[in-house]
Amino acid sequence: MVMVTLLCGKGSPGTTTTAVAMALGWPRPVLLVEADPAGGSIGFGYGQGIDMQGRGLLGAQLAARHGDPTAAVWSNVVGLAEDRWLLPGIGEPRQASTIDYASLDGTLAGLGVDVLIDAGRTPGPDRVDALPAGSDRLLVVMRSTLAGVHTAQTAATAAVAACGAAPGVVGSVIVGPGRPYPEADVRAVMRDLAPVSGCIAWDPATAAVISDGFPAPRKWAISPLLRSAAALASALVAGAAEPPRPADSSAASIPGRPGPPSAADSPVAAVQVEAPVSVPAANDASAVRTR
Ligand SMILES: Nc1ncnc2c1ncn2[C@@H]1O[C@H](COP(=O)(O)OP(=O)(O)O)[C@@H](O)[C@H]1O
Ligand SMILES: [Mg+2]
Repeated sequence: MVMVTLLCGKGSPGTTTTAVAMALGWPRPVLLVEADPAGGSIGFGYGQGIDMQGRGLLGAQLAARHGDPTAAVWSNVVGLAEDRWLLPGIGEPRQASTIDYASLDGTLAGLGVDVLIDAGRTPGPDRVDALPAGSDRLLVVMRSTLAGVHTAQTAATAAVAACGAAPGVVGSVIVGPGRPYPEADVRAVMRDLAPVSGCIAWDPATAAVISDGFPAPRKWAISPLLRSAAALASALVAGAAEPPRPADSSAASIPGRPGPPSAADSPVAAVQVEAPVSVPAANDASAVRTR
């Protein structure tokens, strides 16, 4: 399994949007974790306000006090699409002070499926220790502007200091290459600090579906944003040695949202779950079920 963490500097370059798009295009089962100490937002954007029924990071931590931390995580996820789950983030920044990010890091590393983490801003105003040290890759998300690249360089330096990342672990992702600076220029200035792992296409219509809950356009599945995110996800997974073990999860689902762009023809065999994750009616409490 592989653990990839996305982070950013100040501003809002598209970290969460990229994380959701990558999770939807991930080539095998994956858990997306909203670990941003500033709070979760996916339920309000891609989730269109779905009732998470108390599931999330805080719930997982509380459940872990009385039982197995792995089971505590799985009992707090919601379905994002088939074979991809979301561990929703905290409700507000003040809750960050109660999260034990170090032990969460250890639990996620042993979960048995790939894990994609949205760590938000680094260093954050609320917690400076929220970066998972166990990540195989720490990727700084940035825009291709002067300010964006400068901010990303600062964040990359902070990320290395925060968790002592080994050489080769820290990389970067360009959101909207060529706006205005060309990908090659950004790659050149990031090469020594956080080499560019890939690019996410500039695609406001698709981004609005993810970040703001807009209805999905007809060609959503083949949108530039989702295709570029899937390509980046596949590139990151390509080196992973073993397919992940089956997940033991019971999940509510975010209803009515479009599925991943490439789930049907994923080149990697998906974990066989006992039953497909249900797609319940909006805010249907009975949709939470145990498989
Ligand atoms: N690839 C993209 N193309 C166009 N707009 C994007 C893209 N990614 C994100 N955005 C937009 O940028 C804004 C911030 O995105 P968000 O994912 O919330 O950033 P962050 O998590 O870094 O704060 C949102 O309005 C979102 O729609
Ligand atoms: Mg975010």
